[in-house]
Amino acid sequence: MKTKVLMVCLGNICRSPLAEGILKSKINPETVLVDSAGTAGYHVGNSPDPRSIAVAKKHGLDISFQKCRKFSEKDFEAFDLIYAMDKSNFANIIKLAGSKVEERKVKLLLDEVDLGVSEVPDPYYGGEDGFENVFQMIDIACEAIAKKLI
Ligand code: 4NP
Repeated sequence: MKTKVLMVCLGNICRSPLAEGILKSKINPETVLVDSAGTAGYHVGNSPDPRSIAVAKKHGLDISFQKCRKFSEKDFEAFDLIYAMDKSNFANIIKLAGSKVEERKVKLLLDEVDLGVSEVPDPYYGGEDGFENVFQMIDIACEAIAKKLI
């Protein structure tokens, strides 16, 4: 059985598409399924933010085919691990959980590593350097997750 991992941020256009693309690049797709979603529905159906597409491309990853979708209560059944990019996303996901089993699937992405910070900052209103910073943080966390999944 595949381990199913869902990356979640607010808009599903900046951080979680990067987390999806980065983790996919580190795992065996025959044993691990990776997807992403947003707690808000502002951008449903849209491609990732051009700045996320660009920073992924700079690091050799193509995330341009991804399409934004909203997190749904059904995701608690469909996924084994649900990683929130920040505490606000975490709280919004937990609010939708229907049981302790579902709550226990939800984790903060950066709890997997010791970076001295617990949240991946929202880069949406910042500059390009914010996206590189976010890429590096997510990359370190995904490396740790991929090692655990093997
Ligand atoms: P994300 O960034 O949660 O990393 O995808 C955001 C994208 C869009 C908005 C906020 C954050 N927005 O307000 O539209």
